[in-house]
Amino acid sequence: MKVLVIGSGAREHALVRGLSADPDVSIVVAAPGNPGIDLIARCEPLADVCDADAVLAVAARHTVDLVVVGPEAPLVAGVADALRAAGYAVYGPSAAAARLEGSKSFAKEVMACAGVPTALAHVCTTMAEVQAALDALGAPHVVKDDGLAAGKGVVVTDDREAALAHAAACLAKPGGQLVVEEFLDGPEVSVFCICDGTSVRALSPAQDFKRVGDGDAGPNTGGMGAYSPLPWAPPHLSDWVIEHIAQPTIDEMHRRGTPFVGTLYVGLAMTSRGPRVVEFNARFGDPDGQVSLARLLTPLGTLLYAAATGRLDDADDLHHRPESAVVVVLAAQGYPAAPVSGGVIEGLDAAAQVPGSWVLHAGTRRAQDGRIVSAGGRVLDVMAVGADLASARDTAYQAVSCLELDGGHYRTDIALAASRGEIRIPGSDR
Ligand code: AMP
Ligand code: GLY
Repeated sequence: MKVLVIGSGAREHALVRGLSADPDVSIVVAAPGNPGIDLIARCEPLADVCDADAVLAVAARHTVDLVVVGPEAPLVAGVADALRAAGYAVYGPSAAAARLEGSKSFAKEVMACAGVPTALAHVCTTMAEVQAALDALGAPHVVKDDGLAAGKGVVVTDDREAALAHAAACLAKPGGQLVVEEFLDGPEVSVFCICDGTSVRALSPAQDFKRVGDGDAGPNTGGMGAYSPLPWAPPHLSDWVIEHIAQPTIDEMHRRGTPFVGTLYVGLAMTSRGPRVVEFNARFGDPDGQVSLARLLTPLGTLLYAAATGRLDDADDLHHRPESAVVVVLAAQGYPAAPVSGGVIEGLDAAAQVPGSWVLHAGTRRAQDGRIVSAGGRVLDVMAVGADLASARDTAYQAVSCLELDGGHYRTDIALAASRGEIRIPGSDR
């Protein structure tokens, strides 16, 4: 099987790595890929991942059997639709189904119809509605821009004025609409559900670290690290998520005539009243997807092809390695506000020598002199597996310490509390 992966980040690097390890996958092509992917697969230039004609041209040139679309933007832009219309097997939802990520109010409506547990929410288009919603739900306030905002559209605050200011900014956009939500207490979990339009399989859960600094200080980011499994979570959480969240959502999307084929990323808060959906995404998480995928033993190409062709029912249950996986993200100076590009990265070879670890490229490019330089906010994902979280953490941080990037920064507490047994679900004795 020949597989084309669309995208250029660490998530796509992890997908290419997983696909390459599947004996039934003969060739992996990435477009545009990145310098890390280039070492293990063929990279094809692609100026804009949302340009369906350009993606079709790459798929045709390589006569691929399966296309895996990594990021949300091309999915929301309908790239998967164009590929399907041309006869390709595609792992990634149609534009209509990707609205589960692209529109918070749409996701809320589907959850309500499917009976999925989530935060109470008010969709608002005027400041008067926002005021009323803030009064009704109380503090802490959660105000979410309705559209795709790359993790920057949500403000969670006790400060009513700050909530109102964010709301005003969202409503000032053309067609501005937002969602005011009930605050969900409790630790967050990411569960990646592989869907073929009617059936679902779930990967082992992961936890992501969204704030830039240790101890969850500073602003939200795309994610600074992650780990899997979650020793503190209820056993069989993935099965619970399939039964109570993913399957009802997939059934509702099917009923509407917009079946969901691809990864339904269920972002959960483990609240005192049980798990509640914080958000849906239409793709693997980044970097949280990387740790779930690192533990997946089921051959990835065969699995995604089965999902893309509506044959997940024939696939076995997913198998995961018992070991723990940890990822630590090395970010550029100034990330997330104003990341500095072009910094030379040293130590990649030394990091690659650390047993049990490997490095995924998130935002890099190869300079004319052949050196690898930073080209994005999140630059490298340092991955590690170990017998338990503590040993995977040690290995990841040993590898991170080999890397040099001027002004580069990373969190030092990824998976720390979990490895010490310090994470609690509110109101539970777990
Ligand atoms: P979202 O874009 O919906 O994923 O939100 C980004 C982040 O904001 C989440 O990962 C949470 O940390 C936080 N957040 C979103 N919704 C809520 C909520 N209802 N209660 C508490 N925190 C939230
Ligand atoms: N790490 C969070 C996300 O991928 O949305």
